Amino acid sequence: MRLILLGPPGAGKGTQCKRIADRYEIAHLSSGDILRAERAAGTELGQKAQSYMDSGRLVPDGIIISMMIDAMIKAVGGYVLDGFPRTVVQADQLDKSLAEAGEEIVGIVNLRVSDDRIAGRLTGRRSCPQCGAVYHIENLKPRVENICDKDGQKLVQRADDTPEVVANRLKAYHEQTAAVVGYYEGRGKAVIDVDAAGGIEKVTASIFSKLDVLCSQVG
Ligand code: AP5
Repeated sequence: MRLILLGPPGAGKGTQCKRIADRYEIAHLSSGDILRAERAAGTELGQKAQSYMDSGRLVPDGIIISMMIDAMIKAVGGYVLDGFPRTVVQADQLDKSLAEAGEEIVGIVNLRVSDDRIAGRLTGRRSCPQCGAVYHIENLKPRVENICDKDGQKLVQRADDTPEVVANRLKAYHEQTAAVVGYYEGRGKAVIDVDAAGGIEKVTASIFSKLDVLCSQVG
């Protein structure tokens, strides 16, 4: 099964993609996580992406497209894409690449949440530098304050979760990414809208109920 999860920064894409990947036994391919791993490893790709990410701008399409297509080729058994495609150029290139491979995306989920809810989600986010688990200081607390439940590492705050950078990321979303939903609708693809303003469990239940129906249709 191949899925795409769309939504603005802080909509809950990473949180929900981990759960989707577990339930449907597919890979979770997050463009942001892959870029952060490249940066941590000090690769040329990571260095090229650094200034864009730190300022909240999108990394150029050419870098992202080849990086994500490589990851998709390695993901046997399906995947859910998180943070990609993020421009119409990326969506178009993804379509072409899938068509060449005789594959297709079976479901596109769009998480909807207003800008005013996002700031608190992002500034309160904490993540594990080791395993990537994501928490929130109020909405999803670890068992021990500031310590990862899974591996005991001290949690960190992402450098791009400051109010100034969050404002730039939201601007990039509205100017460059929101149009991706229209791109798919214009090509006759059903986009499953999910209200992501509620709590994490409620959003998960809503996504699962819609994807279960989709799964039963595609087999
Ligand atoms: P990326 O890492 O993809 O960041 P993002 O899209 O801005 O998304 P986030 O990871 O911030 O949020 P999320 O929706 O995953 O929310 P989460 O589940 O963590 O990209 C980072 C940068 O990389 C970009 O700015 C860009 O520079 C570059 N980049 C990446 N992909 C690119 C591409 N395709 N093209 C070009 N550049 C690219 O949740 C957030 C917090 O809220 C957590 O603490 C969570 O616990 C909490 N939370 C989640 N859901 C709820 C809920 N329902 N209620 C309450 N709290 C919730």
